[in-house]
Amino acid sequence: MPKTALSAPLFVLLLTAPVVRAQQTDGWTPEVPRLWDEDAVEAIELPLPSPEHSPKHVSSDFYYAIPERAVFRSYDVYHPDFEPDGYWEWLHEQEPEVVFDATQLKTKADWIRAGELVFHEGNEYSTGTEMEFVRDREAYEAAGIRLDSEGRFPYGRYFIREKGKVELGTDACATCHTRVLPDGSVLRGGPGDLPLGRVVAFELRKELRADPDDDAVVDETWSDYTDHAAPWLTPDPAAELLGMSLGELASVWDALPAGVQARQRAAFRFPARVPDLIGVRQRRYLDASGLMRHDSLVDLMRYAALNQGADSLSSFGGFVPAARGGDELRPEDFTRYSDAQLYALALYLYSLEPPPNPNPTSPAAARGREVFQAERCFTCHPAPLYTNNALAPVLDFVPPADHATRFDVMRRSIDTDANLTLHTRRGTGYYKVPSLLGLWYRGPYFHDGSLATLEDVFDPARLEAGYVPTGFRGNDAKPVFGHDYGLDRSPAERADLVAFLRTL
Ligand code: HEC
Ligand code: HEC
Repeated sequence: MPKTALSAPLFVLLLTAPVVRAQQTDGWTPEVPRLWDEDAVEAIELPLPSPEHSPKHVSSDFYYAIPERAVFRSYDVYHPDFEPDGYWEWLHEQEPEVVFDATQLKTKADWIRAGELVFHEGNEYSTGTEMEFVRDREAYEAAGIRLDSEGRFPYGRYFIREKGKVELGTDACATCHTRVLPDGSVLRGGPGDLPLGRVVAFELRKELRADPDDDAVVDETWSDYTDHAAPWLTPDPAAELLGMSLGELASVWDALPAGVQARQRAAFRFPARVPDLIGVRQRRYLDASGLMRHDSLVDLMRYAALNQGADSLSSFGGFVPAARGGDELRPEDFTRYSDAQLYALALYLYSLEPPPNPNPTSPAAARGREVFQAERCFTCHPAPLYTNNALAPVLDFVPPADHATRFDVMRRSIDTDANLTLHTRRGTGYYKVPSLLGLWYRGPYFHDGSLATLEDVFDPARLEAGYVPTGFRGNDAKPVFGHDYGLDRSPAERADLVAFLRTL
């Protein structure tokens, strides 16, 4: 494929345009809250099914002693066939530049733009061989990584924190919460579709090819283990990793399709689907299990702080993931976002809008709306949000008496696979009722992304023995039980229902 013929001066222009700062104010005043208040951080989290293992987070003294991250100027990453000539060399000549400066932000629009920079900032940075995959054609092929319409890798950016050293920001919000739509446009905050599991598997196999004798064996100090362990459960969902060779570990990562991740606290076998962040403002609970309450913007800031590192410092009934087998935790070994950065990030997430829906209403969709009414889907998915923002218990979970007054708990169970919410550190005993807005660009569906398409959600064959899930399936084929609403309708009615759902 030909390289794009961008001349050097043109890409300089494109990539170094400064963040525009409006001079006028808009009558809006930023109010950056202090997010790490011990009681408040504790109060947003629902208890785990065994409440004695619910996390005890670090003190606010510890949290605020963690050094703040700087947000640096960043640059596009291209697939090797599309990188402009001279770009790589040009990157090496750029000066590091810190681009987030709260004192310069005046209007709400300024803050939102600054929040987008935080969204892209790496939680970690890779350099050298660790980041080779973005410059390796084979990795794109092997993992099935999508590109935007300009041939760029939209899930990560290059950072210059030191002149002459080009690093890839990894584990940014954008890494997991970016989607490429079929027309090549990029949906920021959309339900992410980077096949991260397959990228990691590719890297591990490459390492193994380079050094076939290096049969490294996973032990309790590996993050693959500590991120996902729940040692008080029998079995511990991460115990199967212990003693694995690199090749075996690669197969475990490989089982995660695009849009499904073994997020920290979940498990490789019981992963979570990456949700859509567009519309997050209206959700009362965050995560599939409704793990965190979300009453206002500061709760979203707390969610981001916990999930970008802070909950690894917490003690889950004595198990501290970041302590990796007994190390003492020291604030200076970690980094955190500043309160102002997280405030900007939360404002940015609240500002996200869905893309225009290309599915106009049709006679089929109109008939499908009638099926939706007749099946009483609205009892859980009422317009306009198409969710009642409530939590449905799984079958084996008996909600403690006080939950009825503390949380928005339903009595009905919908009987989908209970493992994520019962057998991981991310569990509560519930699954929240997801909104149906934006279903047309989402997928895979259900909390674990086990079903690739809406047709699959409403396919009665998914209940039968021998069914092979079309999304995440782990290591074996198994039926996708539960949520059987609408499944006994005729094929034509189910097709109508799906046509209606695609208009939302
Ligand atoms: C490694 C991938 C990854 C990264 C990095 C990541 N997320 Fe997520 N995020 C996920 C997954 C997977 C879930 C679903 C977890 C669940 O359902 O238990 C999730 C859930 C969420 C939710 C809950 C939304 C809902 O409706 O339930 C929010 C909010 C969120 N992420 C924001 C962020 C922000 C902000 C950042 C950056 C600071 C970030 N995420 C970084 C993978 C990631
Ligand atoms: C008793 C409450 C309840 C009823 C009734 C109900 N749902 Fe749901 N729905 C849920 C819950 C809870 C989930 C999440 C299940 C999971 O993730 O395991 C869900 C998930 C979904 C999903 C997948 C969304 C996603 O983000 O993955 C779709 C689509 C859906 N429901 C459509 C419908 C339709 C159409 C009907 C009527 C035919 C219906 N639901 C009836 C509670 C309900």
